[in-house]
Amino acid sequence: MVRIHAGQPVFPSPRFSLVPPAATCCFYRVPENKITPGILKGMKGREPIAALTAYDFPMARLLDEAGVPLILVGDSLGMVVLGYPDTTHVTMADMEHHVRAVARARPRGLVIADLPYHSYDSVDLALENARRLMAAGAEGVKAEGGTEILPQVRAILQAGIPFVGHLGMLPQSVHEEGGYHIKGKVEAEHQQLLADIVSLAGAGATAVVLELVSPAVAREMTTRVGIPTIGIGSGQGCDGQILVTTDLLGTSPDYIPKHVKIRGDLRAQGLQVIKLWRDSLSAVPTPTPGPGPSPRPA
Ligand code: KIV
Repeated sequence: MVRIHAGQPVFPSPRFSLVPPAATCCFYRVPENKITPGILKGMKGREPIAALTAYDFPMARLLDEAGVPLILVGDSLGMVVLGYPDTTHVTMADMEHHVRAVARARPRGLVIADLPYHSYDSVDLALENARRLMAAGAEGVKAEGGTEILPQVRAILQAGIPFVGHLGMLPQSVHEEGGYHIKGKVEAEHQQLLADIVSLAGAGATAVVLELVSPAVAREMTTRVGIPTIGIGSGQGCDGQILVTTDLLGTSPDYIPKHVKIRGDLRAQGLQVIKLWRDSLSAVPTPTPGPGPSPRPA
């Protein structure tokens, strides 16, 4: 396959040294030391995996410069960018648009895209929509669920599309679940989570996101499989951690989940800069109106 991308700047990233520099030809340039699903899997037990979300080109560039090996175009897009109340409003067209923007940054990190709500209800639909996200520039897809979506997961993987699972609290089921609750505290849930992760790993998933899983259960799930677990609100026993980037930076518009330790308040800083600029305008004298256009000859 030939992907045309001219002028890709190369950011130094000593952490990405696991594969030799990729070939360059006159049309096609893969970033050096590109993270592949195989490399990501190999990070389990070696180094903690840092994963963050990106929804546009500048954010993907920033994550790339920071050396983030796993970039998720998450359907959290709905809340933090598009102004929806939850992820159930996100469409395939929304996802494709934002995947394209992220992919244009050609980051070294593996770009995974969320299959949105109802886009993988059947095997055929899952395959068609996974292909659409790959055509938009994703390097793999993520979907929520375990054994109940195994036929879809198998079909996606058989088509050669890398797959990342998502277990625990499933945001696309927020209405059925009546909110965002910790999973795995009840024994039946604990056993189901173990069965789910073993099935996803057995099918060939690259990694599994564990969202709001009770920390002891997340740790146990992590030891049960040979693929990385990437936790969010699931304690420190996972192979990596993922955050919604705007939560980390403090630019999320509304609600920030309890498990997030905000490390920056870029919203407050941005607000201050905008107000300073606005106020600076009133310090400049208002231009006096000129003579205006000459009256038309009668
Ligand atoms: O959509 C998203 O950003 C996610 C993360 C919360 C894991 O799925």
